[in-house]
Amino acid sequence: MSQLPKFLTDKNLIPNVTINPALNYLGTETAFGFGAEVIAVEASKKFSQVYKFHVGDTGPKTPQPIIDVAIQALKDKQTKYGHFAGYPKVRENIAKYWSELRGVEIKPTNILLEPAGKSPIELAMQVLVAPGDKIIVQDPGYPVYESLAEFYHHGQVLHWQAYKDEEKQTLEFRVGDLQKLIEENEGVKLLVINTPQNPTGMVIGREKLEAVADLVRQYKFFVIFDDIYDQITFGGRKHFSFISIPGMLDWTINLNGYSKNYAMTGWRLGFVVAPEWVIEIFGRLAINKWSCVSRVNQIVAGAIYGDMELDGFKYPSIKTQVQELINKDFVEYEKKGQFVSEALNLLKPYVVCNEAEGAFYLYPSFANILKLSYVKDELKIENDKQLSRWFLYERGIATLAGSDFGKMGLGYVRFSYAEDRDIHIIPGIKHILNTVIELIEKSGQTAPLTSHDVDTKVNELITRYFA
Ligand SMILES: Cc1ncc(COP(=O)(O)O)c(C=O)c1O
Repeated sequence: MSQLPKFLTDKNLIPNVTINPALNYLGTETAFGFGAEVIAVEASKKFSQVYKFHVGDTGPKTPQPIIDVAIQALKDKQTKYGHFAGYPKVRENIAKYWSELRGVEIKPTNILLEPAGKSPIELAMQVLVAPGDKIIVQDPGYPVYESLAEFYHHGQVLHWQAYKDEEKQTLEFRVGDLQKLIEENEGVKLLVINTPQNPTGMVIGREKLEAVADLVRQYKFFVIFDDIYDQITFGGRKHFSFISIPGMLDWTINLNGYSKNYAMTGWRLGFVVAPEWVIEIFGRLAINKWSCVSRVNQIVAGAIYGDMELDGFKYPSIKTQVQELINKDFVEYEKKGQFVSEALNLLKPYVVCNEAEGAFYLYPSFANILKLSYVKDELKIENDKQLSRWFLYERGIATLAGSDFGKMGLGYVRFSYAEDRDIHIIPGIKHILNTVIELIEKSGQTAPLTSHDVDTKVNELITRYFA
């Protein structure tokens, strides 16, 4: 019984049989558990408004043309099982669009439709890694890679730690550090790269990805390339894909999907692009695990990229209309990202925020807030996890702790700016600034901004970004 995972014993759930001891290695994605706490705080009515900066969900709703296709498919009674890998027309449409987008030949047989972007992570861990092989994940990074890697391959996980400039508090993934890690550890089989990145919002550009490709050629390892936020980039940055590098499609499990770009998180729809032999194995696993993606979702997945037809029913392409609509969402994300970053930097050097590069996340450092006497001695807050809980339970501000995404996130807080501008982002930012000013002043220090100036300064930013 000593083998029981803590997350069961903590809840006093004691199975009457022995269960898989590897469960001790299974982590979680805090966003979901913390989300439930946020809902509980809202329900308690302690605050007139809980400001939501914790969500990994999209603020915008699914574009109407997508909903219309799904409704039509249901009216056509497209309700039976679907094709296990995705109907040929769906994979053809995705392959055509992606070949143009990525500048590389992608065949329908390189594609498998998935129940969202997350599922290929587990498939890759199950298929590509043999006992003793090592897996590299980014730190900080999306926690599910590490959780699943640990679950299946205990202790074989290595961390590509972001380089931290202590003075500026900035983070950067340097390929030199990755190379060192590979050279020092024999048997690296899989590297996970996510760009635009959750949790930092950083974008890894072409030059770095080409340097990683050189390492792939030299050391022969696979790359899970997660570019689920690929269309959400800012400041003139354009997403560059690892599979656009000649030869890299042979070494890449590229997960993508509809959740973030198309505001379809609840639909559970995604796809993976990979070598044909990998797709063949993934397909067999898919049959064993989920049989197929729902037929309605398959029709939607195809129509988003081109004309769809199934069993004599036609669904004309909604590609252009949908792209126009989501482009507006991306412009709004960019404005909100720049606004939040600049607003938080009004409190420099107490809070230091990175530039909004992509996805809908920022990863400001609150390390200097954690050093404040009032925070340490009176509130007894020692780390970013406690700070984020205090923000929620005492001030009604929901964020995620930086260290929920890895050790390099200690002292950081993840801010999502996906939520509604007028309900959450603007009033929420004012509330955060006032809260942090209170912490600074109660520690006997002078804040760079007084609470009297908050409205004026934030209003200036509102005019700059949203007028
Ligand atoms: C980096 C990253 N990859 C994958 C996913 C999973 O996406 P999906 O909802 O399509 O499973 C998320 C969701 O938050 C994410 O942030």
